[in-house]
Amino acid sequence: MLERCDFILGGEVGAFESEFAAFCEVRHAIGVDSGTSAIELALRALGVGPGDEVITAANTFVATAFAISHAGATPILVDVDPRTLTIAPELVEAAITPRTRAIVPVHLYGQPAEMDALMDIAARHGLVVVEDACQAHGARYRGRRAGSIGHAAAFSFFPAKNLGCYGDGGAVVTDDPEVADRARALRNYGAPRKHHHESIGFNRRLDTLQAAVVRVKLRNLDRYNARRRHNAQEYLRLLEGVGVELPFAEDHVEHVWHLFVIQAADRDGLASRLGEAGVATGIHYPVPIHLQPAYAGSVPGPGSFPVAEGAAGRILSLPMFPELEQAEIEYAAAAVAAAVDGSPSLV
Ligand SMILES: Cc1ncc(COP(=O)(O)O)c(C=O)c1O
Repeated sequence: MLERCDFILGGEVGAFESEFAAFCEVRHAIGVDSGTSAIELALRALGVGPGDEVITAANTFVATAFAISHAGATPILVDVDPRTLTIAPELVEAAITPRTRAIVPVHLYGQPAEMDALMDIAARHGLVVVEDACQAHGARYRGRRAGSIGHAAAFSFFPAKNLGCYGDGGAVVTDDPEVADRARALRNYGAPRKHHHESIGFNRRLDTLQAAVVRVKLRNLDRYNARRRHNAQEYLRLLEGVGVELPFAEDHVEHVWHLFVIQAADRDGLASRLGEAGVATGIHYPVPIHLQPAYAGSVPGPGSFPVAEGAAGRILSLPMFPELEQAEIEYAAAAVAAAVDGSPSLV
């Protein structure tokens, strides 16, 4: 690649796209520069734009809502299921208006949203569905890969993701050849062929160097995800009865545990005790979308989405990555137990 100066949409991008499409069990993958771009370009390629309402979850990473706004549409937030924290289908249906054009379910923490119910709602109301699979590479819903169920899906290759590159990257995937062609043109100045610009497109291409990185990592993704699942099972076993709420995985999904998120009433106290014991934690995400200043006044205010809001004050992400060792899992679990008990710190 370096010798050929094959730096823009080179062979590595095409090869990665074929391999990633096969991995996702779809016909087309289009490499783009981020997950945020992937959501926006998928919506645009499906014809979603100004004047349209797009329903998504109130507790997602803010980029989901931003991508909807960037496409020119209006994000309509709804609350989530209290057990899985993924979008509640009955609330999606209640939020539909004559302007609704799309649903963007988020496969939060690596667990697919309730796709059968959502696809059924979409079919009955003539809506399109773009899966935000930015946290769920390789997950399955009733045997089908995350990303292969909606009309299109978006993935992020931000370094911390289950499939991450050495910088920013993302992909749109779809079975629909026309949507694929439009997304492919949009990412490259709206040009389906050189110097022929059919729409006011963007420069949102997946970098060829990043494609080369993520291509190699893709070969090991199922193995990495199996390690994450093993780690999650260990946490679930060790933390049972410890006095924190454990993440709930549906039987019909294959969760890929991008994050392992517990809930505790005194979340901040627990986080600081874990920090003292040398256990790094995170909060994904501390402020739901409707409480972000960026959307102040344009979406319903405090108290509107009680499940998302309540969870935001209790959630805590424990260390989770494929290389986590058994002793580290045991140490983190013991540190949680000690903190909840009020016993002396482990260090
Ligand atoms: C659920 C979700 N949606 C969208 C994004 C945006 O992806 P990116 O950071 O690659 O733009 C991310 C990750 O950052 C995410 O976790």
